[in-house]
Amino acid sequence: FHLDIDASETDKGIYPYYMLKEIEEQPNVIRTILGHYMDEQGHVNIDSEIIDTLKNADRIYIVAAGTSYHASLLGKRMFERLVGKATQVEISSEFAYDNFIPEANPVFVFLSQSGETADSREVLQVANDRGFKSLTLTNVPNSTLAREATFSLPLLAGPEIAVASTKAYTAQVSVLSIIAQAMADNKFSVSHPLANIAIAMDAIVQDKEKYEKLANDYLVDAHDAFYIGRLNDAELALEAALKLKEISYVHTEGFAAGELKHGTLALIEENTPVMALLTQSATANLTRSNLAETQARGAHTMVIATKENAKEGDEVILPSVDSAEDDPAVVQQLAILLATVPVQLLSYYTSLGRGLDVDRPRNLAKSVTVQ
Ligand code: G6P
Repeated sequence: FHLDIDASETDKGIYPYYMLKEIEEQPNVIRTILGHYMDEQGHVNIDSEIIDTLKNADRIYIVAAGTSYHASLLGKRMFERLVGKATQVEISSEFAYDNFIPEANPVFVFLSQSGETADSREVLQVANDRGFKSLTLTNVPNSTLAREATFSLPLLAGPEIAVASTKAYTAQVSVLSIIAQAMADNKFSVSHPLANIAIAMDAIVQDKEKYEKLANDYLVDAHDAFYIGRLNDAELALEAALKLKEISYVHTEGFAAGELKHGTLALIEENTPVMALLTQSATANLTRSNLAETQARGAHTMVIATKENAKEGDEVILPSVDSAEDDPAVVQQLAILLATVPVQLLSYYTSLGRGLDVDRPRNLAKSVTVQ
């Protein structure tokens, strides 16, 4: 595989910051991934040896750090809920030093934008030493993690320059969903949900001024902020909180909505922003009740909901991607990508509103090559 990088991909062009450019590129990243990995019949185009290795594993370990770790959590859900394959997610900086692997035949999936994260490389070394097979999904096809794993597949997001990762996350979730489709013997048609999601994302990006207003109204002057959700929404809450804190320096936590009353509720004060993510129909009403509990304590609440889960007056109502041809279970897994763009835009505009260097937050590096 050869990745062509032309100058236009590493040039900010009309954009004030790379992050905004990279957020806006996401619908096309999905289209590139679909074009590369799916054929016209909706069948996945990935080497069958890779798919058989994953299918035959006793357990899949997905190993990653940072934003890639958050994408891995969604990968676990897809592998387990859609394919029935036992999957475990491990933070590489933890697993590198305490790797309990009881299975005789595990397979390791490394998820990494850069392919160079030192802790993830350390885990790959362990897997290689023990003779376990591995697959790296990375945005940099000739990176160390790609070269040293048994197999590797490209994420095809194009160069990501802003320190805060955006399009790599979307690419990771998309490629993982396509791998799930292949492991399920193409039983569900993943191509359609992703194609529709790309169209819906176009609309969200076009509406970006809306997020500038919300960021100014809710977040620019905040000291603390919270994202809550359940199931996939709880996992996006982690990523949303990371995105906001890393570039705006507003202290932000993201967590499972049901955990609020076990401690965090004590932190809610007059005007504390609390954002609820509602893409999961099974739990949307429960999360809404949790949000109401924060509102009763003075929180400045915001709802980001898919159309099916929205109520009148919700601040962000995401376009619907339901279509008769698509498997509703797959749509439920991938709907999370719709809420991803708003939380990225909220972080971007909060950082901008606070007068910070969006692309180069203090103390952070794009690729962490030390342990
Ligand atoms: C750094 C970057 C993050 C990234 C993480 C993992 O902290 O700033 O954006 O998620 O490393 O990097 P990787 O390249 O392995 O995905």
